[in-house]
Amino acid sequence: MEIRSVKVSDYYVISPLINVWWGGRNMSDMLPKLFFKHFTQTSFIAENDGKLVGFLIGFLSQTHSNEAYIHFVGVHPEYRKLNIGKHLYKKFFKVVKQNNRSMVRCVTSPVNKGSIAFHTKMGFEIEDGDRIIDDLSINTDYDGPNQDRVLFVKKLN
Ligand SMILES: CC(C)(COP(=O)(O)OP(=O)(O)OC[C@H]1O[C@@H](n2cnc3c(N)ncnc32)[C@H](O)[C@@H]1OP(=O)(O)O)[C@@H](O)C(=O)NCCC(=O)NCCS
Repeated sequence: MEIRSVKVSDYYVISPLINVWWGGRNMSDMLPKLFFKHFTQTSFIAENDGKLVGFLIGFLSQTHSNEAYIHFVGVHPEYRKLNIGKHLYKKFFKVVKQNNRSMVRCVTSPVNKGSIAFHTKMGFEIEDGDRIIDDLSINTDYDGPNQDRVLFVKKLN
């Protein structure tokens, strides 16, 4: 497996895959082309024999000079649990550290139990929200009405 930087043409490959990879949830609108144009130094593609099997879209925070943010990560359903997500995160962490930053943040939906398990395994902590459901701290309406989120943060060593 190889990891390379994102390029604009990846948008046309990835965008139609997103809702399928997210199990039918409507997610592709949250990843417009701008991310493939303006965040190429911190966004990565995983390829297996030239086939795209995973991606990570992230960026360095403009507002918080010690922080970086992972907006999207996705791995082809047939290639999960093979450490592709982990490799993409490790690559991102390396670039974040090279940019003298030590905090990484991301958010996910409370329904996305796979994402919560993955981020916990990757060493992220869940930030306190305003309520707890099934032992999970949740930020109610974080991204708008009925758009609750779980907030993750990881301090890089
Ligand atoms: C979440 C996702 C990116 C994980 O990618 P992946 O390549 O399967 O993850 P990895 O193989 O690198 O797993 C890393 C660790 O997390 C664990 N893990 C990954 N997915 C898990 C799951 N669904 N349940 C429990 N543990 C999980 C692995 O077992 C591994 O643990 P280990 O270090 O003890 O071996 C992938 O499942 C995916 O694309 N999901 C759909 C899209 C999505 O929800 N993205 C995240 C929100 S933006």
